[in-house]
Parts: sequence; C-alpha cells; structure tokens
Amino acid sequence: MRIDVFTLFPEWFEWFLDQRHVRNSLDAGSEVRFFNYRDSTPLTGGQVDDAPYGGGAGMVLRVDVVDAALRAAYGEGPSSSRVVLLTPSGRQFDEALAGELADERELTLLCGRYEGVDERVREHLADDAVSVGPYVLSGGELASMVVMDAVMRKLAGALGHEHSALEESFSEALGGAPEYPHYTRPATYRGWGVPEVLVSGDHERVRQWRLAQSAALGAAAESPPADR
Ligand code: 6GU
Repeated sequence: MRIDVFTLFPEWFEWFLDQRHVRNSLDAGSEVRFFNYRDSTPLTGGQVDDAPYGGGAGMVLRVDVVDAALRAAYGEGPSSSRVVLLTPSGRQFDEALAGELADERELTLLCGRYEGVDERVREHLADDAVSVGPYVLSGGELASMVVMDAVMRKLAGALGHEHSALEESFSEALGGAPEYPHYTRPATYRGWGVPEVLVSGDHERVRQWRLAQSAALGAAAESPPADR
C-alpha cells in the first residue's frame, strides 16, 4: 500500500515513522510519502491560506493550493488514489473504515490547518471527509496519524503475530464488540485477583467467558449512562 500525506508540517510525522509497527509495515513493502502544500503553491511568498469570505477569525487553506499540490504529485487527470480529507466535520473514523482503507492500494490523506479548509476541497477534490472524533484538533496531522496507525496495523507484516489482529476489539470474530479484558501474572497482586475461569485450564469456559465479557462491553458502550 502507498500512503501520501499532504501537510504543511511534514516534520510532525518523524516520530511516527520511527515506531516499530510502522517500520515493520514499511519493511513489508508499504510506502509513505509526504507532500508539503507550500512546495507547490501557485501563490507568491509561499502563501497557502487566506481570510474567509463572509468574515470571521482565522485563515482558510485555499482550494487552488490543495489542487496544485495534488496535480504536482499525480499530474492532471483523475488520480487512482482514494483521497481522504481530514476534518472534524467528516464521517467518524472507525474500525470498519480502517479496514476499508487498508484494502486500497493508494491512499491520499489531506491534512487541513488553521480555521479550516475551503469547502471546495471536500466537494471536488476529496472522495471522503473523515474525522477521528467529536473534538477539535489544531490540524489534521494527528488525525492522519490516527488513521494511518489503524490502517497500517491491518496490513500483513505490521503486527508481530499474524493472528493478533484476528480476535481484537471491534473484529468480526467478536461481533464488532470491544475486546475482552486481559490478565497476566501475578495471579494475586495487593489482594487483587484475576477471574478464576482464566486460571482454570478449561479452554471452552475461557472462550465462553471472553465472548460474554466482550458482548457486555459492547452493550455498555452502546448505552452510555443517563447523565452523559
Ligand atoms: Cl480529522 N481534524 C481536526 N482538525 N480535528 C479533528 C479531526 C480532524 N478529527 C477530530 N478532530
């Protein structure tokens, strides 16, 4: 898989690319490239943003700047890459979308900055608009790392064990529910024990317990307490 990230702050990603699961994924044949909007801007002085029409605070990333960056990377004509705009008003990112994006051969992530991105980017240049949660980040960079992390760990070779992704949170094996709780040694710590079933050696009971725990966590997540 090839992931292209368009950003004004490529240096934000240095730490991310150094992480082991990301390195593993890159060693296994994935590629991540970075494009700085400022390097291809058609405006003078490296300008990339402008004041919003209609007034208001902050600056807006310009559509001609984003278009120029895409054309510089992919040429004219339609790109074969799935283009995702990161924006807090986008569709909420989840494990299902991570799986969908992991099936793409080419993925393009457009990071916004400042107060926002000209809406014509979403309307004409992006295939999807995606948010990583109901809160506002100062830019799309962290959001794009969230998306890349969730996507890249699904690619073969990224995880230490091929099977560790099979029965994890939100997987099909668990009916889309969160993963069951884990315990390891010591069996008692400061008087805090572990569920008896896990040390029983009865694999079928362990399996049933885990499914039930996972289902209960899923039900709890779907019906938050009334005071929230
Ligand atoms: Cl994708 N971008 C920004 N700036 N804030 C966010 C977000 C994205 N997702 C949640 N908050």
